[in-house]
Amino acid sequence: MEPRARAVLAVLLLLAAQVTMATGETRCNPGEYEVTSLCRCSKLCPAGYYVSKYIDQDHSVGECRECESGTFRAHPSEESSCVPCSQCREDQEVVTECFPTSDRLCQCKQGNFYCDSVDCTESCFRCKRCEDSTILHPCNATRDTVCAVKIHPEAGKV
Ligand SMILES: *[C@@H]1O[C@H](CO)[C@@H](O)[C@H](O)[C@H]1NC(C)=O
Repeated sequence: MEPRARAVLAVLLLLAAQVTMATGETRCNPGEYEVTSLCRCSKLCPAGYYVSKYIDQDHSVGECRECESGTFRAHPSEESSCVPCSQCREDQEVVTECFPTSDRLCQCKQGNFYCDSVDCTESCFRCKRCEDSTILHPCNATRDTVCAVKIHPEAGKV
């Protein structure tokens, strides 16, 4: 191919790409998504719902159905199902139950386990016991027990 022809082709390809990008950005309004297979814009289903049917009509809402029990969606979406709620482990307790719009929240079982990292994905740690010193801070879900420094009474010195 001649250099000039190649340059023209490159420009054409670039223009085509820009047009596609521009239409992709502007076709759908905020709160809408593109149903690619249908070439339509559809409104998002609200949080707590999933899209149960995609419809072939521009700028209208598909069928939304509330998340089934044990599942949730925290944000408006175009997804065709909800996300299964987290399960609390054996060493955890429920802080907040699962709702259609929010996941179940778990924390380490108060008084026995704690976790000082942000996402306690593996397991909680067992709380420290203050052998024969006093407890300064009892163990809670996010912090280990703080024991008082043990004092060794030294008898007979003046
Ligand atoms: C645990 O205790 C620490 C300080 O004693 C406190 O900052 C934190 O909020 C407590 N965590 C919980 C879950 O109560």
